[in-house]
Amino acid sequence: MKQEQQIKHEVQPWDLLERGFQPEDYCLNATLFSLGNGYIGLRGAFEEGYDPEPFTDGCYLNGVYACEPISYGESAYGYARNNQRMLTMPDGKSIHIWIDGERMSLAEGKLLNYSRKLDMTTGTMERKCTWCSPQGKTIELTIKRLVSLSEKHLFIINLELTPLNFEGEVRLQSRLDGDFSQAERSDDPRLASPIDREDIRWLENTADGSYLALPLSVISSGFSICSAALHHCESDSEHTIDNSWSEDRVSTEYRFNAKPNTPIRLTKYVAYFAEQHAEPIETAQLRAYLERCAARGFEEHAVSQHEEMDRFWLESDIQVRGDDALQQGIRFNLFHLFQSLGRDGRTNIAAKGLSGDGYDGHYFWDTEIYVLPFFLYTQPLLARRLLEYRHSILDAARTRAREMTINKGALFPWRTIGGEECSAYYPAGTAQYHINADIAYAVRHYCQVTGDTEFLRDKGAEVVIEGARMWMEIGHFNSRRNNQFCINEVTGPDEYTALVDNNFYTNLMARAHLEYAAEVFQWLQSFDPEACQTLVKNIQLDPAEPANWTRAAEAMYLPYDSSEGIHPQDDGFLNKPVWDFAETPEEKYPLLLHYHPLVIYRHQVCKQADVVLGLLLQSSEFSVEQKRRDFDFYEPLTTHDSTLSACIHSIIASEVGYPKKALSYFQQVARMDLDNHHNNTQHGIHTACMGGTWMCMVQGFAGMRLHDNELNFNPYVPEGMDGYRFRLQFRGRTLALDIDRLKTSYTLVSGEPITLHHREEVVLLSTPGQVQTFQVTAMEEVS
Ligand code: BGC
Repeated sequence: MKQEQQIKHEVQPWDLLERGFQPEDYCLNATLFSLGNGYIGLRGAFEEGYDPEPFTDGCYLNGVYACEPISYGESAYGYARNNQRMLTMPDGKSIHIWIDGERMSLAEGKLLNYSRKLDMTTGTMERKCTWCSPQGKTIELTIKRLVSLSEKHLFIINLELTPLNFEGEVRLQSRLDGDFSQAERSDDPRLASPIDREDIRWLENTADGSYLALPLSVISSGFSICSAALHHCESDSEHTIDNSWSEDRVSTEYRFNAKPNTPIRLTKYVAYFAEQHAEPIETAQLRAYLERCAARGFEEHAVSQHEEMDRFWLESDIQVRGDDALQQGIRFNLFHLFQSLGRDGRTNIAAKGLSGDGYDGHYFWDTEIYVLPFFLYTQPLLARRLLEYRHSILDAARTRAREMTINKGALFPWRTIGGEECSAYYPAGTAQYHINADIAYAVRHYCQVTGDTEFLRDKGAEVVIEGARMWMEIGHFNSRRNNQFCINEVTGPDEYTALVDNNFYTNLMARAHLEYAAEVFQWLQSFDPEACQTLVKNIQLDPAEPANWTRAAEAMYLPYDSSEGIHPQDDGFLNKPVWDFAETPEEKYPLLLHYHPLVIYRHQVCKQADVVLGLLLQSSEFSVEQKRRDFDFYEPLTTHDSTLSACIHSIIASEVGYPKKALSYFQQVARMDLDNHHNNTQHGIHTACMGGTWMCMVQGFAGMRLHDNELNFNPYVPEGMDGYRFRLQFRGRTLALDIDRLKTSYTLVSGEPITLHHREEVVLLSTPGQVQTFQVTAMEEVS
């Protein structure tokens, strides 16, 4: 277990506040204060510059990457060949400031006042400071930022500078700066690799008064990118404008004859456009776009931003009564998820969102298993977009399958941006075949919750069926095990146990996947025979295949140990010695940074929930007693070195009667990044854990499970909270739940009548506005 981390920011239910500059937390705050709109992500580094370490800064575009060959000391057939690395964009927020010849930096001079606020109700950030230069010139500076939720390509910086005690020259040099800082090589697999600058071709740039444009192309990936900025200056002080440019940087410099107490205002509208394998974007078009944006002014954009946030919170908020620290953590996490999610069906949500380039900006299974549920039950259209992305990379997944000697179907990449498998370490990468089943699980879940048959017909069916065919190729009916269907040489979710036979989670999820594929095929045959025929033809489906899927599902081998009464994680897990936890000092965690993988692999030790996750995802297959036995067995073996772990343990702890544990895990989960529990938030947020926050509340404390297409709840209020409430979208209805220590009420906010289940009781809500209330019995701690 990790050390208790102290709360670094004031506890505020709707804001993140930094009061007093914290230089030691600059990099961490650059992540926490990052802003995004699902396309642009902008770290919270300062406009005027402040760079104590490399890679604190960054601006990213979702889905925009460079390719680089992966170099192996010793390569072998089928290893992933290329990495796709989320690219750092030219820095558009940069505005360097000179006060009578002295460059402003919070590293120098005296800071008389400082605060920064990320306001989650308005979707904006504001930084205020009063700074005195080394020569005694004092200014007041307020900078507001927003990354527009309604204009995908736009962010705005609104700066106001007021000299307090001098008259003299103030220079604001606003840049588009392609000389971005570079990450350095590191042994930590969670960090990004450096950018190859030779891969960037700078095109003809523009610096024309208040307008700047810096186009470039990325040779390796074929992206054409253009960043552009337009400035609007307001000041009673006289000023001149000058431009300067070099290959990778353009700037507009405003020089003011500044007077005391006379504010200088500069608004910078910055746009990014990127296209792959297309002509470079016309800068004239960009200028027109920015002029339209600038004509609306910062305030109008701020109003639209607020409206977007209001819409988001109305459907997605979870209100907690009685614990503001948890409340802040929950909102912070949901806010970041919203900021990070690609919304166009061709991009996804990276493990670090758009807040840092850790894991090179890759998308993982984190999306389907951890992030999707939140969007599915609050904004189902956005959940659909995530799944459409998987359909968009199906061709790449088929190509990968062939490379892996899988003759039919598709193998989705373990980590990727554009679709190609990017995992350089196959034991904890490609071997996680469970990704196919995770995606199918998410398609099924999506269809159950939305009833979206159009999606299933047009995209979902192909994703599910192509993915299912893989199991038939990598698994086999094992004659030495009574012809049960076995799957060898895989890695399950727990990355501290690799390349095993019959990983319980993988087999369990593969079984559900195969069953579902057969069901979907049958459904498509009757729902739209023509679409079914087209699919059969396109993927050359043999008529015998669906029956084989059913046969394999029915014969699926699931490890079970009757002496322990538990599910072994795989065939060999119980034969290994238990890791010596007592002799492992705290500083040796996470184990992956201190032990060779082989040392870890030969022990019973888990990085994250594996069997325990299976128990949640296929909940109805197991009794509560079984879940408790498995939980009791695996929990002591689990280090939670992955941030994907604590949330799942919290949910199952809730279910099996350990409310104290459930809460204690949840406290970590909800404030994982805010309090930097894993000491690596400086490289980016943890989106899976953020999704896990929502799951803990809704599936853990409120005990929601979907059985036979109906919602079931088993709610309780953990110690320390007085209650909580949230809304859900389910098959076109909006439901509201309000749970306190004495009662739970269910309201049908809008939509058709619906039947739910509160514990053993049936809840029928027939008309909008109807409420049904039940007494809540406290959750008894099982000893
Ligand atoms: C976890 C994986 C996860 C990845 C990205 C790793 O530490 O073990 O399960 O997909 O992080 O979040």
